[in-house]
Amino acid sequence: MIISLVGFRGSGKSSVAPLLATRLGMKFVDVDQEIELRAQQTISEIFANQGEEYFRKLEAETIHVFYQSDNLIVATGGGAILNPQTQTLIQNSGPVVWLQADVQATVERILKDDHDGSPRPALTDLDFQQEVKTLLEQREPIYKAVSNIQIDTATQTPDQITDRIIQYLEVSHRGKQ
Ligand code: S3P
Repeated sequence: MIISLVGFRGSGKSSVAPLLATRLGMKFVDVDQEIELRAQQTISEIFANQGEEYFRKLEAETIHVFYQSDNLIVATGGGAILNPQTQTLIQNSGPVVWLQADVQATVERILKDDHDGSPRPALTDLDFQQEVKTLLEQREPIYKAVSNIQIDTATQTPDQITDRIIQYLEVSHRGKQ
């Protein structure tokens, strides 16, 4: 079983994945971190040097490799689910958790994250707030369609979100017995 965490930038995938892994005694991987390791560049450098299309190819390939294994928690990048093959792969591998947040919470988190760490590349020519709003509108139907559970992260801490995921896994496991 692979537990996939999906959701927009700043939704908390990378914070929740290690917490969930500790609680469940499973390993976790962060797709963006793995891409950076493999490419020996930050995501922003890949976007600047080789372009988004190249990044999306690396992203799909990296995901494909991870999903050959088992017993893993995967924090996907926010745009990974745009790829139809990736959608099928994650849905066929185990529970998919959508970490959801509204535009305002998302904007605040991304600004904070990018201030504390390495800034994310722009995905459109729109101004930042408009980009978040537009892409969230485009992607929400996809997050919704691929996921088994949706968790509002705007009002909950990573520990609370982890509790909620574990509760869901227990209930859905019981339902299958
Ligand atoms: C992207 C999200 C990022 C990263 C890249 C593209 C997107 O991942 O993969 O900058 O298209 O939303 P996070 O969701 O981990 O920030």
